[in-house]
Amino acid sequence: MSLLHFGWFLGAGFGVQGWGDDSYGVGYDWKKPQVYQDAARVFEASGLDLLVIEDGVTVPDTYGGTAEVNLASARFVPKHDPLPLVPYLLGATSKLGIVPTLSASFYEPFTAARLLSTLQHFADGRLGFNVVTSGSDLAAQNYGLDKQIEHDLRYDRADEWIDVVRKLWRSWEPDAIVEDAAGRVFADYRKVHTIDHDGRFFTVRGPLTNAPLPEEPVMVQAGASGRGQAFAGKNSDVVLALASTPERMRAHRDAVRQAAADAGRSPDAIRVLFVVQPIVTANAEESASVRAARAELTQASIDEALQSISYLSGVDFKRFDLDAPLPELSTNSNQGTLDNFVKSAPAGSTLREILQTRAQGDGLAVIGTPDEIADHLATLGEQVGGDGFLFTGHVHPANVHRTLDPLVPALRRRGILRTELGDGGLRQNLLDF
Ligand SMILES: Cc1cc2nc3c(=O)[nH]c(=O)nc-3n(C[C@H](O)[C@H](O)[C@H](O)COP(=O)(O)O)c2cc1C
Repeated sequence: MSLLHFGWFLGAGFGVQGWGDDSYGVGYDWKKPQVYQDAARVFEASGLDLLVIEDGVTVPDTYGGTAEVNLASARFVPKHDPLPLVPYLLGATSKLGIVPTLSASFYEPFTAARLLSTLQHFADGRLGFNVVTSGSDLAAQNYGLDKQIEHDLRYDRADEWIDVVRKLWRSWEPDAIVEDAAGRVFADYRKVHTIDHDGRFFTVRGPLTNAPLPEEPVMVQAGASGRGQAFAGKNSDVVLALASTPERMRAHRDAVRQAAADAGRSPDAIRVLFVVQPIVTANAEESASVRAARAELTQASIDEALQSISYLSGVDFKRFDLDAPLPELSTNSNQGTLDNFVKSAPAGSTLREILQTRAQGDGLAVIGTPDEIADHLATLGEQVGGDGFLFTGHVHPANVHRTLDPLVPALRRRGILRTELGDGGLRQNLLDF
């Protein structure tokens, strides 16, 4: 078996960790860095390459036109800004890649380039950034717009955004700082350049104020629509992906790799990582009972699943009959996420059947003993030609240890999880194999 890359996707962001679990709040306050620092230490010791921290800038009320379910279940909010958390995570670890989320729609490229450059200087090459285009109208309304701009146009804008960010990072030549005390020259003005960018969406003079970067941060992205995949293929180092079957995983990876080739890049420069939620059980009996309990949909579990997809897709799922197939749906928000949800059960399935299928493990969840989960991931890795996986879940130590303590040895026994991270930074670790 060959090595795969593993990481952790913190889907709750810098937000509430494990509300509803017995362990909720025990020993930690989710609003403070410690719980994330402790988790990051475990991820590093486990040989995970990176920690990706979700973010969003709305209190969602798409589901039934109210934030009631969302706030009651602490899904998506409350949450804090992930960027100030980054230095704490860097301080707690020495090799793990740290990847906060940042919106290309709401951060000016100069602001983003300056912030990320500053953090990367702290990080010694361990920083990544998850670029999102923030599809929600609710988000746009927090930044002075009536609604979010059209889906593909958002990606056109993001294409130019990343181009400007990178031009700013390169506005200082690598050897611009000479520190020549005798000559009384700190930096050589001939090696610091304006970028004079005058594009369709941005006008930026530059140069950046920051010292030049030895290594640019790793760009992570999760677009899944055709336009999103083209954007990722052209610009990304890592693609985060959701897919419910090996065939769909393979198709997604192939499409991103093709998009990279179309943009003149080597497809091997990109790592496509699929998000999975391992639910570790002790034996077949417990797996069966977990599956049965999850398939037993309660009003609370239905509401929670539907408010989540409503938020992610911008479509109000409250208005659909649970016992009828879904109508044809489209969105200006996250197209790939909606498509993946609809296709997670066979065509013609009712909404209830889609929820049942996903709850039992055909969506994100992988339910089984450590050996079963490790076998499943090893097989998927081979079928998909995959680069690896991101585990998802909250980071209270009860969940982190319940998941990783049994899984890490099982993955290592199969030779698919590295035993040690290198010192060369996130990009180097990702390119090791
Ligand atoms: C694993 C994963 C993580 C994501 N994380 C975020 C996030 O933190 N914030 C956000 O606004 N969108 C997030 N998204 C949404 C994506 O950025 C993107 O908008 C979405 O996948 C739809 O893109 P598409 O319309 O090209 O399919 C995430 C998507 C996936 C699959």
